[in-house]
Amino acid sequence: MKKFIIIAIAVIILGAIYLYWGNNSLTVSRYKVSPENLPESFNGFRVVQISDLHNKDFGGRLIKKIEKLEPDIITITGDIIDSYHTKPEIALEFAENAVKIAPVYYITGNHESRLKDIYPEFRKTLEKLGVTVLDCRGVTVEKDGGEIFLAGMDDLTFFGSSVLNENTIVYEEKLNALAAEKGGRTGILLSHRPEIFDTYVDSGFDVVLMGHAHGGQIRLPFVGGILTPNQGFFPEYDAGIFRSGKTSMIISRGLGNSLFPFRIGNRPEIIVCELNSEM
Ligand SMILES: [Fe+2]
Repeated sequence: MKKFIIIAIAVIILGAIYLYWGNNSLTVSRYKVSPENLPESFNGFRVVQISDLHNKDFGGRLIKKIEKLEPDIITITGDIIDSYHTKPEIALEFAENAVKIAPVYYITGNHESRLKDIYPEFRKTLEKLGVTVLDCRGVTVEKDGGEIFLAGMDDLTFFGSSVLNENTIVYEEKLNALAAEKGGRTGILLSHRPEIFDTYVDSGFDVVLMGHAHGGQIRLPFVGGILTPNQGFFPEYDAGIFRSGKTSMIISRGLGNSLFPFRIGNRPEIIVCELNSEM
């Protein structure tokens, strides 16, 4: 009996250590993409993507890690705050430190759309800190005489639905308008949800950066993610890179948690997407 209790306690302690490590130790995933018409000056251009922070406080480790990655720009792909345990000060502190490293571009997720009371003020504060909010608009990013187009969409839920339907026609119109504005330039699109991959492919953006899926929250070897919002069990678009036509979609597993309080086999992830003229 005594032996059984000792083994049970050891299992509980090891399990707790594993859970803590799996939810607090940061991992970096690196991707290289070769978009069409990439200006020579953008060869090696490094985009660091942060997604789904959900108010998670890494106590300065996240910022230190990003700094070491020497990004040319930092992109935040939604759910930086969480609608169930809203602590905007954590996200704002992160933004305040991130803008000291590189230009920061931000889009909303579904959690921001639920926080109608605080989001307008939160957004104003982000902008005051120097973050560029890409609310269905694009900007030209220049480097040594070359330029690319960087655009961002608000989450679908800002348009009244979490799926594409007759209510979200405006979403598609805005995305198509951005694709037209991109023209023949290399285009990077920030959007929150990966499950409408085909829509992004149709838009003709070269690189699309996504979050929302949290890697399926629990990841099993050889299986991948278990469950994501809007895709259900064993989702197709849970993490990693997907290619179709000229479009490469990178899905971040994100950093924090929302209603389900932990990740298993799915450490918090920072994405580095490097643009290359050719590979
Ligand atoms: Fe989300």
